[in-house]
Amino acid sequence: MIRPLIAGNWKMNAAGADGRALAEGVGAGAAEVASACDLLVCPPAVVLAAVADVLAGSAVAVGGQDCHEASSGAHTGDLAAAMLAEAGASFVIVGHSERRADHGESDGLVQAKAAAAHGAGLNAIICIGETEAQRDAGETLGVLSGQIAGSIPEGAAAANTVIAYEPVWAIGTGRTPTVDEVAAAHAHIREQIETKIAEAGEARLLYGGSVNPKNARELLAVDNVNGALVGGASLEAASFLEIARQAAS
Ligand code: PGA
Repeated sequence: MIRPLIAGNWKMNAAGADGRALAEGVGAGAAEVASACDLLVCPPAVVLAAVADVLAGSAVAVGGQDCHEASSGAHTGDLAAAMLAEAGASFVIVGHSERRADHGESDGLVQAKAAAAHGAGLNAIICIGETEAQRDAGETLGVLSGQIAGSIPEGAAAANTVIAYEPVWAIGTGRTPTVDEVAAAHAHIREQIETKIAEAGEARLLYGGSVNPKNARELLAVDNVNGALVGGASLEAASFLEIARQAAS
């Protein structure tokens, strides 16, 4: 039995006082679900240290939303994985489809970022997923294979690597794949990571894309779904905790 992880990706929302208040809300409800699932919030970088302070001593881990592939240097506006760790992060998301799209991030770059995360002692959440055009063309599993082959670094192990399957067309749209489609994707991912991640059978595979308190139970019950990466519904403590409750029950 793999312990589920419910991760909140706040994206470019909830900084400053809003971020601290959201963290307080999540922290206040965490004890109730923490015996059965792990909780993580990934706030904007400017509030990461403050959120980590709020959540210190709670069951909620804190993560970054991205890191640079280098450990330091002339990279204006970027953050090294070790800086996130120093600010209180134990995880970092890499290769989110919004970064792949907005910043042209390739599989090779995502792989380098994940390696940097590991080098800083962070757990890397590597995101993969097909576009709607790719799904319509019947390319989903092939796209996932390519992203897995290209984005997972040497040295990845179940203890330091999480894979998040996020169909691009399901993110922020209120649309989700059917449970059969999620099951097929996750079974394929489990098989494909066998040679890329040590102890691959133990690695956590998250589903992400329009997860909410209404659909979480069904999605989290799918074989090889070991938690969720939640965007919009993580911006309210009550809905995030409700998703976690469903993972825990
Ligand atoms: P969403 O975002 O839950 O708002 O669809 C998920 C994500 O992008 O991680």
